[in-house]
Amino acid sequence: MVGGLIVGGIALVCVIFWMRARYRMRDRSRYLLGETRRDEAALSVRAGVDLERFFILSQRLLWGQTQPDLFTVDLDAVIAELLGEYPDFFVAHLVVAFIRREQGEDELADEALARARAIEAKLDTPPELSLRHLLPTEDEWAGIPPKVSLQVVVPGVVWRVPAYFVHGKAPLHEVSNATIVRRRDGGLVIYNPVDVPLEIRDQILELGEVTHLVIATKFHNHFISATQKLFPGAKTYGVRGHLKNPPSKDLHFDGFLREGEPLFPGEIDEFAFGGHEFEEVVMIHRDTRTAILHDLLVSNRAGLEGHTFWIRLYSFCWGIDERVGVLSYQVILWTKFLSVRRTVRALLLADVERVLVAHGPVVPAPGESPQLHRALGWVCELGPIEHLVLIRDFFGGQPGFFRDFIRYMIRG
Ligand SMILES: [Fe+2]
Repeated sequence: MVGGLIVGGIALVCVIFWMRARYRMRDRSRYLLGETRRDEAALSVRAGVDLERFFILSQRLLWGQTQPDLFTVDLDAVIAELLGEYPDFFVAHLVVAFIRREQGEDELADEALARARAIEAKLDTPPELSLRHLLPTEDEWAGIPPKVSLQVVVPGVVWRVPAYFVHGKAPLHEVSNATIVRRRDGGLVIYNPVDVPLEIRDQILELGEVTHLVIATKFHNHFISATQKLFPGAKTYGVRGHLKNPPSKDLHFDGFLREGEPLFPGEIDEFAFGGHEFEEVVMIHRDTRTAILHDLLVSNRAGLEGHTFWIRLYSFCWGIDERVGVLSYQVILWTKFLSVRRTVRALLLADVERVLVAHGPVVPAPGESPQLHRALGWVCELGPIEHLVLIRDFFGGQPGFFRDFIRYMIRG
C-alpha cells in the first residue's frame, strides 16, 4: 500500500514536471531549433505548405541516403509518401532529385529536378520570400565544383579556404572550410584542415610555418591523411572520439584536445562540448574575436560564396535557412544536457565579433552581427526535462531513427 502510494506520487510528480516542460516549450519550434513556432509558420507561408511533415519525411530520406550505415530507410516508399503529401511543393521534388542523383539514378533525378523547376517557375513569390535559392545551379547539378582560393578574413591573421568534396560516387558537392590562424609567434594553426591544390598549399606556406592541424570534432576525418602529407611538419590534434570512430581510429594523431588545457593559452580559448556526441571544441581567437566552429553550427545564407546545393538543401531540411543555427537533429546527440548547457553558457560570455563555421560561407558577410547568441542562447533557457521533450518529439516523428540510434549507441 505504502509502496504503491510512493510509486504513484513519483509518477504524478513526473507527469507534472513533464507537462510544465511541455508548457514552457509551447512557443518553440522543434524543426527550427532556437526559433519560435511563429518563425516556423512564417517559413511555411513562404513555402506555401505546412512544412511539418515535409521536414519529417525529407529528413528521413536525407539520412537514409547519406548515412545508410546507421539508418535503414525504405527510400522508394518514403519518396512516394513525400510526393503524395506534397505534390505541388517544388522543394519536395528537389529532395527527390537530390536522392536520385546521389543514387546514380540520373534520369529519375533529371525528371524530378525538371518538375521542381517547372513548379517553382509558376510561383509569383516576391524575391525576398522565395525559396528559389535552394535550386541547384547548372554547374552544381553537373558536379562541377567552384574554383577554390585562399581568402582573407582578418588581414594578416585569419584566412579561410574551402574544399568541395563528394560522398563516394555521388556527384553533388558538399563543402568544408579550413580556417588558418597566424599566432602571435608567427606560426600557423589550421582548424579543420582540408585538402587543397598545391598552389594553395604554397600560398599558405608563404604566410608562415604550419605547426598545428586541429580537427576539433569527432566526425571530421575526411582530410586528415591528405593534409598531413601537405604539411608534414605540423602536429595533428584531434578529439578523443577520433580514437573510437571507425574512419579515424587508425589515423595518426600527435595529441588530443583536453578540457582545461588549451593548446594556445591566453591566445585561443577552447570550449569543449563534453556530453555531445560531436565532442566538438569551439575556438575563440582572442585578438580577432573570432569564433571557429566545426559541426556545432551551420550557416545557410543565400548568395554568399561557399554554399553548395548539397549544403543548402540539407540545411533547409534540418531547419536552417538564412541564418546560423543548430541542425535540428543535434538534440538527440546531447548525451549530458547539463554539460552541454554549461559549455554554451561559458561560450556565450566570450567577446565575439565573427563566427566561422566549417559548413557555411567561406567568409561571413561584411558587417554581419554576431550570431552565437541567436544560434545558441536558447539552449541556456532549457532544463533537462525540456531537453527530453525535444528528444521525444524528434523520435516521435522518426520511430525508425530511434531504433537505429539505440543500436548505434549500444555499438558505441
Ligand atoms: Fe561536418
